[in-house]
Amino acid sequence: HFAKKVDLPLKGKKVVVTAGPTRERIDPVRYISNFSSGKMGYAMAEAAAAMGATTVLISGPVDLPVPAGVQRIPVESAADMLDAVLTHYEDASIVIKSAAVADYKPKDQHPQKMKKNDGETQIELVRTTDILKTLGERKKNQLLVGFAAETNDALAYGQSKLNKKNLDYIIVNDVTDPAGGFGNDTNVVTLLTHTGQSIAFEAMQKRELAKILLQTIIKEEGLHTN
Ligand code: CTP
Ligand code: CA
Repeated sequence: HFAKKVDLPLKGKKVVVTAGPTRERIDPVRYISNFSSGKMGYAMAEAAAAMGATTVLISGPVDLPVPAGVQRIPVESAADMLDAVLTHYEDASIVIKSAAVADYKPKDQHPQKMKKNDGETQIELVRTTDILKTLGERKKNQLLVGFAAETNDALAYGQSKLNKKNLDYIIVNDVTDPAGGFGNDTNVVTLLTHTGQSIAFEAMQKRELAKILLQTIIKEEGLHTN
């Protein structure tokens, strides 16, 4: 006779996830980008929605279906992503920044297709805004979760990003690990917390890992008692 108790620890909470690469246009037919598949971010959004969160997925260009119950906002550049994230920041409970945001963009966007010449050429690059750092500076009650994809000294770089960007959690992965990195369905990560813990997870499917990471954060924050 008892109704099955459904565990929705994020019910009534808004979770904002960013995912995928950004594209920084050089001219109408060319851009600078990276190999991010978006799979980890989409898995995080899927897990948040399954736990009852109102979930907004701000996504760079990727070829993945929208997870069930998730509102997707497509964006292209780092500047677009910044705008979309800020629009949804104020009332967010958790922001998860899985996106691989381009660090640099071309200083000028050529209005016409650039023509080749003999010999070498150069494209002048300028920095994009660090979205996560901006969020860290404006943080009120939001929990900020970053990602760090590293090829070396992963934990040290991860810890320094947690500190510099005023994050609550950072999910660190060594992209040189054959089970991790861009494009794979599996990932192997360590979660660093604002309380100084370092929690290493076995290699597993990104969808499974996303659930466990969120559950760990929910437990750490005592959100499951809500
Ligand atoms: N990030 C961001 N905006 C940027 C660059 C990065 O929000 N312009 C976020 C990423 O989404 C990620 C975290 O910052 O959650 C770390 O990104 P990463 O590229 O690992 O670190 P950077 O600070 O860019 O440093 P570097 O690339 O030099 O390692
Ligand atoms: Ca970067």
